[in-house]
Amino acid sequence: MNRLDGKIAIITGGSKGLGEADARLFIAEGATVIIADIDDEAGEKIAAELGAKAEYQHHDVRDEERWIELIDDVVKRHGGLHVLVNNAGVVIPGSIEEQTTEDFDFIMDVSAKGTYFGCKHAVPAMKNSGVGSIINMCSIASVQGEGGIIGYAAAKGAMQGMTLSIAAYCAKDQMNVRCNSLHPSSILTPMVENIRALIAAKREQDPDQDYSNKKMVPMEELGDPNDIAHTVVFLASDESRFINGAQIRIDNGKSIIPGIIIPEEI
Ligand SMILES: NC(=O)c1ccc[n+]([C@@H]2O[C@H](COP(=O)([O-])OP(=O)(O)OC[C@H]3O[C@@H](n4cnc5c(N)ncnc54)[C@H](O)[C@@H]3O)[C@@H](O)[C@H]2O)c1
Repeated sequence: MNRLDGKIAIITGGSKGLGEADARLFIAEGATVIIADIDDEAGEKIAAELGAKAEYQHHDVRDEERWIELIDDVVKRHGGLHVLVNNAGVVIPGSIEEQTTEDFDFIMDVSAKGTYFGCKHAVPAMKNSGVGSIINMCSIASVQGEGGIIGYAAAKGAMQGMTLSIAAYCAKDQMNVRCNSLHPSSILTPMVENIRALIAAKREQDPDQDYSNKKMVPMEELGDPNDIAHTVVFLASDESRFINGAQIRIDNGKSIIPGIIIPEEI
């Protein structure tokens, strides 16, 4: 008996990074997995590698019509929907003075609105399926101040608030649908590699700027995507059936240390 036997799961942003690790572990635990992403090449490759219980669907989380179509199709073909991992996200660094409104809107559209659409259409499908678990991939950016990522922090804060509202709504109506948020930090994925490259380029352009660790809490160790995926599996499984509206930090304690949290290697 595997921990996710019989579960039908959609994982957004499942072509890379944390979503890919979730997809791999979900399959290992017996789930049927729909990888929903815009990176078709990577997504199709992973789905093929994972075998008959995995499939890839091109899905831009900003498109509400596509959400309706995807969930309908999954329910028709697989007989229900039990798990949604709202994992797709983007980061474009920028402080309140630097971030463009265009970038702010883009980040909000992917993370906040994409999550809203996903939850809006997953809740009725899960209710009909008799059981459901929504896992919203937030960040420690929404539980502590991080000055250089205003749009990202705002989007994750919106997701955190949505999670509580959905959890309360589902609990009140005794739907057997749960909604929880995860708050990771500094896990080595393509997203974090891109941020490192951006900061390295900034350092080169502006060597006089103080990017030293004097202003930062030194963090030598980056986490592995599986450090998050194990908790995603737990929240997706019936083992966590009494956990609803929780906000779980997975950051090796970084967010309880005062200061600016940036891995030392950055
Ligand atoms: N890596 C970390 O340290 C970290 C920390 C905190 C939170 N997170 C959050 O975890 C999630 C995954 O992060 P990651 O590091 O794996 O990122 P990543 O950039 O490595 O992967 C993100 C995936 O999302 C997909 N995606 C982007 N826009 C999309 C859209 N509009 N529709 C569908 N898919 C889309 C990308 O194609 C990609 O496959 C994100 O929401 C991120 O904010 C990551």
